[in-house]
Amino acid sequence: MAANPVAKRLVVLVSGSGTNLQALLDEIERTGAEEYGARIVAVGADRDGIEGLARAERAGLPTFVCRVKDHTSREEWDAALAAAVAAHEPDLVISAGFMKIVGKEFLARFGGRFVNTHPALLPSFPGAHGVRDALAYGAKVTGCTVHFVDDGVDTGPIIAQGVVEIRDEDDESALHERIKEVERSLLVEVVGRLARHGYRIEGRKVVIQ
Ligand code: GAR
Repeated sequence: MAANPVAKRLVVLVSGSGTNLQALLDEIERTGAEEYGARIVAVGADRDGIEGLARAERAGLPTFVCRVKDHTSREEWDAALAAAVAAHEPDLVISAGFMKIVGKEFLARFGGRFVNTHPALLPSFPGAHGVRDALAYGAKVTGCTVHFVDDGVDTGPIIAQGVVEIRDEDDESALHERIKEVERSLLVEVVGRLARHGYRIEGRKVVIQ
């Protein structure tokens, strides 16, 4: 993506509480979209009734829901999700706690501009339970990883990582809350830099220009 003075268009995908989405909204509100380099043009979800969608509605943003169970196959769902996202003409798509693996059609359209945030230091502890798995393994540090999505599970090129120490007294929820504090700042910083400066992906390396 080339550097460009015009604010880039972001579609954010959520499945839950949406605190990462909120961090993006707050920063764009604080700095203004031109200075931040991007604006959120829509928020999508794979389920109804979540706080992430309520946050988007309170911010006056268009929302859409694309549920797997409303489609006859996973491929059909993936194509419908891709079409719903494409309707908002995003420059970047951000998976901020979106708990679904997208498929071929979605990646054909948005590969190389689909960013995910994961609550562990990849390549350790990929998948849906990154926090729990790091605790169960007995790791002493964990953290979060912002990366581009490829066709594996949390295997795409890494953009940035943040480190969080694991404490003896941690349970999954306490540790996840500390990770999310680091994660929100990291995501806000990284998305802004990608949008303002442009970037290229060279194999596994992401170079922000
Ligand atoms: C975040 O910690 C994100 O890394 C995680 O869900 C949380 C969403 O929080 N995503 C995954 O585990 C994806 N495998 P939020 O809804 O408050 O932004």
